[in-house]
Amino acid sequence: MDDLRTTYLMKLEKMMSVEEQIIEGLPTMIDMATDEGLKAGLTAHLEETKMQRDRLTKLFAAHGYEPKGMEDKPFKMMMEEASQELEMITNPNVKDAVIIAASQTVEHLEMARYGTLVEWAKALEDDDGEKLLKETLGEEEHADKLLSGVAKGNLLKDSVNEKAAEA
Ligand SMILES: [Fe+2]
Repeated sequence: MDDLRTTYLMKLEKMMSVEEQIIEGLPTMIDMATDEGLKAGLTAHLEETKMQRDRLTKLFAAHGYEPKGMEDKPFKMMMEEASQELEMITNPNVKDAVIIAASQTVEHLEMARYGTLVEWAKALEDDDGEKLLKETLGEEEHADKLLSGVAKGNLLKDSVNEKAAEA
């Protein structure tokens, strides 16, 4: 772990664990969501997440790296916390607001991690890695913006947060 390349690959493996946990957990959140925009946004991001997982697989192959099945424990705890909170809520509007909150926490963690990894790829002159990771970073940023839009609402759409506040 004493060189950046090894550390880079280990961090990528942690992201693989994150993406796999999202692929496993997101369908439950989609089922729980009531707001149509939220449901559609999460469904689209689930498909993107599968592509993000595949990009990581591609990256490992390019580096001749065998993933060791490392798990990202802090992320697992975040997901557990979110599902515990959601279990305690019955109001659908409040539930939507909490799903957005949990999802944006996830997106920000991913943006921070992928932001670092893009820079490390650049430093390591891993051009293909940089390109693939930038694509993923762009998707995470887009998902985050979309969630903010659903939370705040607009002229055509009610704000999930305002509806939750009325509950
Ligand atoms: Fe992701």
